[in-house]
Amino acid sequence: MRSRLLAFGLPAALALVAHGGPVRADPGPGPAPYLDPHLSVQDRVEDLLGRMSLDDKLGQMTQPERRYVTPAEVTRYRIGSVLSSGGSAPDPNTPQSWADMYDGLQRAALAGPLRIPIMYGVDAVHGDNNMVGATIFPHNIGLGATRDPALVRGIGAATAAEMAGTGVDWDFAPCVCVARNDRWGRTYESFGEVPELPSMMTTIIDGLQGDELGGPTSVLATAKHFVGDGGTEGGDDRGDTRLPEKELRAVHLPPFRAAVKRGVGAVMVSYSSWNGLKMHHNRYLITDVLKGELGFTGFVVSDYNGIDEIDGRPGFTKDEVAAAINAGIDMVMVPTEWRRFIDYLRDGVKDGDVPMSRIDGANRRILTKKFELGLFERPMADRSHLKTIGSAPHRKLARRAVAESQVLLKNDDVLPLDEDDKVFVAGRSADDIGMQSGGWTITWQGRPGPITPGTTILDGIREAADPDATVSYSKDGGGIDSSYDVAIAVVGETPYAEYHGDKTGDLGLDDADLKTIGRLRAAGVPVVVVLVSGRPLDIAAELPKWDALVAAWLPGTEGEGVADVLYGDADPRGRLPVTWMRSGDQEPINEGDGKKPLFPFGYGLTYDG
Ligand code: BGC
Repeated sequence: MRSRLLAFGLPAALALVAHGGPVRADPGPGPAPYLDPHLSVQDRVEDLLGRMSLDDKLGQMTQPERRYVTPAEVTRYRIGSVLSSGGSAPDPNTPQSWADMYDGLQRAALAGPLRIPIMYGVDAVHGDNNMVGATIFPHNIGLGATRDPALVRGIGAATAAEMAGTGVDWDFAPCVCVARNDRWGRTYESFGEVPELPSMMTTIIDGLQGDELGGPTSVLATAKHFVGDGGTEGGDDRGDTRLPEKELRAVHLPPFRAAVKRGVGAVMVSYSSWNGLKMHHNRYLITDVLKGELGFTGFVVSDYNGIDEIDGRPGFTKDEVAAAINAGIDMVMVPTEWRRFIDYLRDGVKDGDVPMSRIDGANRRILTKKFELGLFERPMADRSHLKTIGSAPHRKLARRAVAESQVLLKNDDVLPLDEDDKVFVAGRSADDIGMQSGGWTITWQGRPGPITPGTTILDGIREAADPDATVSYSKDGGGIDSSYDVAIAVVGETPYAEYHGDKTGDLGLDDADLKTIGRLRAAGVPVVVVLVSGRPLDIAAELPKWDALVAAWLPGTEGEGVADVLYGDADPRGRLPVTWMRSGDQEPINEGDGKKPLFPFGYGLTYDG
């Protein structure tokens, strides 16, 4: 991932001259021990720690957002990490400028007296999704439908490779939440509603990190959001998960256990509360359970402004900083107010509210991962990997993932289509990369439109059909007549992310989508509905009017994968990763709760019956 040109194996004196700053401690005859890659990581960490001032240590625990910190400040405040929040990209948004931005900040970090590299974090939650041109894979809910952990591992590796060329070395993924209520706006970030699915899909961590940290395209993975984010009352994002400990442990903890077993480098704390106590100061769960009982040796990062949530009032206080750090948070994502965070934490240490052992412990964990990643030896972007971004093999992998994730829910002998069929395609999601990619794509919320290169579902249908067959399209279904063999309505949800996607009321299709389907039906041709959505929708009343139904989830940039299944080039093999409600008022509805769903967890038809 990072260029080997800047090697710390150089004699220390040379390396230091090259970077223009003396190492504060007595350099002695050879390189300072922490710069020697032949020593153990533990020895290097202890040596470095011994050379660090309190300010050096506070900086390592601080993660500003790229828009609110300059390279000069990274040097001056010894910043440990910088992030891009959803959609925060350099201008122009090209792989080259990502790499330039990363290298600029990295050079600034290395200009500090101890030359400690930064880690740069992004939400690459379905491919390196902030970057125009990256391969966008299906969101986790679709991957859960594949039941294919090896495929998911491959997606992790491809995502890491696309990140690696830009230098970005830390991924705030996977979300291993167990989504228990489809009203939750983050349902699509979940691999499924039972703990076994997210646990099984922690193979993505192996893909992201590689066999061990420090490989050529290895990035640090983050299991998030610890813990119980998918269990809040009413599916309220950042809400309260009210459960006895036994149930919290049975439903929401197992994926974290699995992630820790796979050596996940970071864990992000959830905005939510557990029985009224905000997770960001839950010392029992973070320190005793995660670090103690589960044996997590990586570092714990807060969520974005997550420490502000602790006392329920806007902004953060000195007490909230102390509470979060004492609870076991090692690095704080504090996008704008990072100077104040550093001041409060320094005060906390000086006043004895935060023991120095916590500061050292946090630094140990963070620095260990930096050494393991090889950042001290290879801090800069290795641009030789830029060519993997949106490459043909990655798009092929994504197409396969899309095909595997399709769940066939109803089929009255219409599917698979014949390549000679005269087909009419309609719907807001039929010819729209933004719609089929959902939230966390180029921007935080995602949006309709040609936001990044890819193949729409309509493109895929045109490619799958015989070149001589008629494939007509109109967005709203206007213009169809009875001469068609079949009509395909590609409809669903408009992109959203986090709490913007919480739905307290109706979970049905939009009026525009219902009208489109109505026009197709009025022509008297069989109607196949392809639902592009981040969760099950309340469609029970409409279903009898449809001849076939495919849940396509949020497939990403490779729409041909949907067409592969519609035309039988791939067999439908997806299985529901969540229970499909019969009506919105059944929420929450989950496997084994005795409620009668429209389609049970695990349901999915095939073409061979
Ligand atoms: C989300 C996290 C994300 C972070 C950084 C927060 O709003 O909850 O999942 O990693 O932002 O973008």
